[in-house]
Amino acid sequence: MKLTLPELRRDTPLVMVTAYDYPGAQQAERAGMDLILVGDSLGNVVLGYDSTAPVTLDDVIHHTRAVRRGAPDTFLVADLPFGTYHTGLRDAMRAAVRVIQETGADALKVEGASPEVLDVIRVLGRNGVPVMGHVGLTPQTEVSLGGRRVQGRDEDSARQIIENAQAVQEAGAFAVVLEVIPARLARVITERLEIPTIGIGAGPHCNGQVLVYHDVLGIYDNEKKIARRYAELGKLATEALKQYADDVRGGAFPTRENSFIIKDEVLDKLY
Ligand code: KIV
Repeated sequence: MKLTLPELRRDTPLVMVTAYDYPGAQQAERAGMDLILVGDSLGNVVLGYDSTAPVTLDDVIHHTRAVRRGAPDTFLVADLPFGTYHTGLRDAMRAAVRVIQETGADALKVEGASPEVLDVIRVLGRNGVPVMGHVGLTPQTEVSLGGRRVQGRDEDSARQIIENAQAVQEAGAFAVVLEVIPARLARVITERLEIPTIGIGAGPHCNGQVLVYHDVLGIYDNEKKIARRYAELGKLATEALKQYADDVRGGAFPTRENSFIIKDEVLDKLY
């Protein structure tokens, strides 16, 4: 059964994974995920961009609709992509309404804790749209953070991340993602907040964890310190496709088993 917001508690570990299409969503739901995220990591792992910045609202809507069809009974969060909530509250509200109305997502996620983003969280919340926050490493603005590296290692930046997480909570977020920060900093934040923290590369003290589908399943070769690979589907897929190519080239596929029959008397008439 789909979790409801009051059931997103801090006392049992929450498990979230990203999904971007119908089969991935079905697998995530059958595996019993508490939450599914249609992350704008879509840009990196599905669309082949080298950042999340080019992902559009239409991209997110298209993929979230497929995920909703595959996982009708799982709490579904969709990322608002870069640029869709940075040009004013009216634009943010319009983007949010489109995602919720056109996809059936239960909630949205926004990155950062600038005064403008906090206003977005407040306005969406006041209008009945649950918002998940995201602090620490925020990929939509990673260039200004010095690239994809651990955030909050020195006192000033650690304090800033604590303040950001608290501000996101005060603005009304129902949960917050902590990305790529030291484990003990994530513990401090988790202890100080009332809303659940969901970590990625933030150690074991968060209330939940989120991983990218392609990292869990080993679809690409790149090993990531922040993830654990539970399968090697990328290698398996390449081997299977090679075998298919060999079989076609060597005449081993298709066989009679893969073919349909036509009666002799019909065939005779064709000659
Ligand atoms: O886009 C994404 O997949 C995310 C997760 C890494 C939290 O934001």
